[in-house]
Amino acid sequence: MNNRMYLTREEEQILGGKFGVGMQKAMELLVAIGDAYDAENMIPVSRAHAASSGQEGDLYFVELLADGGAKCRVPTTTNPVYDLAYFHSMFDIPEGEAEVARRVMEAYKRVGAILSWSCVPYLSENIPLYGETVAFSESSATPYVNSVIGARTNREAAQSALASGVIGKTPKYGLNIRENRKGTFLIDVKASLKDEFDYTLLGYHVGKVVGYGVPVLTGLPKRPSTEELINFCAMSNVSGAISMFHMPGYTIEALTVEEAFRGDHPKDKATITDKELGEDYEELQTATGSIDFVMLGCPHYTLKQLGEVARLLDGRKVHKGISFWACTSATTKALADKTGYTGIIEKAGGRVVVDTCIDEPCWIAYKEKVGMTDSPKCAYYRRFKDVVVSRLQDCVEAAVKGRWG
Ligand code: F3S
Repeated sequence: MNNRMYLTREEEQILGGKFGVGMQKAMELLVAIGDAYDAENMIPVSRAHAASSGQEGDLYFVELLADGGAKCRVPTTTNPVYDLAYFHSMFDIPEGEAEVARRVMEAYKRVGAILSWSCVPYLSENIPLYGETVAFSESSATPYVNSVIGARTNREAAQSALASGVIGKTPKYGLNIRENRKGTFLIDVKASLKDEFDYTLLGYHVGKVVGYGVPVLTGLPKRPSTEELINFCAMSNVSGAISMFHMPGYTIEALTVEEAFRGDHPKDKATITDKELGEDYEELQTATGSIDFVMLGCPHYTLKQLGEVARLLDGRKVHKGISFWACTSATTKALADKTGYTGIIEKAGGRVVVDTCIDEPCWIAYKEKVGMTDSPKCAYYRRFKDVVVSRLQDCVEAAVKGRWG
């Protein structure tokens, strides 16, 4: 049987209910996690990101904390839900679904979270520094802050991240401990990796091959861009459970392969070539021919990506009957508006939409439709009937022609 994690006097008081039911419930969750992982004690976190969503599982916990009077002690950002007024003006969203989303958004406000509604908060609203201990949930966020920034987080759920935001602490275990951050799996990359979409496929394949572990990737043809790293993070943590990786020389904790493994030998090895990525590409397709809509921005697009969409659509028109969406954060859209990207995309018949993601019930109108996206993660949620997954340029061409292939 596990020993109970050591708690300070204040932590015991929180657990006993002295600071209210909300804090107590948050602490109960963190203690249960700490005990499950044999953590010795709790350590402070400086920030958190809760992978909120407009769905019932999330509603239960955030309302439990908010109704119990809890307030975030450290900056805690939120993941996409959806703008009710915006979507209700277009789609017939069942009242029950809308009510859940409304209550989730209200409860995060009551609990004192920063209402970023973005899945890439580490780019603008909530940026950790190297060495900070944080509690970040969300597929791209966890590996990005661990690997690219060098902050320390475990693979949190929305609930455990929110609990840490409220308590300001997390149990000390897993990736909070330096020794556990070393590589376990050596990946020799022999693929050409020409663009952002190739990093999407690379992440998808690495997640499938490694499953759970810390891959160390060698042989990359050049320094990956921010967007390429975001794509790699999101996909490797969806097809697998990759909370951390090393790209020696490019990510921050290891300059060399030896440093990444801290003197140990890799437990496993694999080589990835264009052939494997090509096979993954084929595996992802479930449709060809006519499409009904294009969905971009999973993870939320950066300003650079919106600029590329604008460049590709400039002076053109999205085909009649095709919906064209690019999801992003409110902060990025504000810049895209000023920079002129939004105007170009809208003039072509597309839309730039904030605060939401493909996994939200607001897209119910597409349930029986065929979509096209540049994101296997977007395809994975399958809130629509069939899907084509391909690079951004292909998505734009298909949107203009009204069909793919
Ligand atoms: Fe972000 Fe939603 Fe995709 S949270 S990564 S847009 S599924």
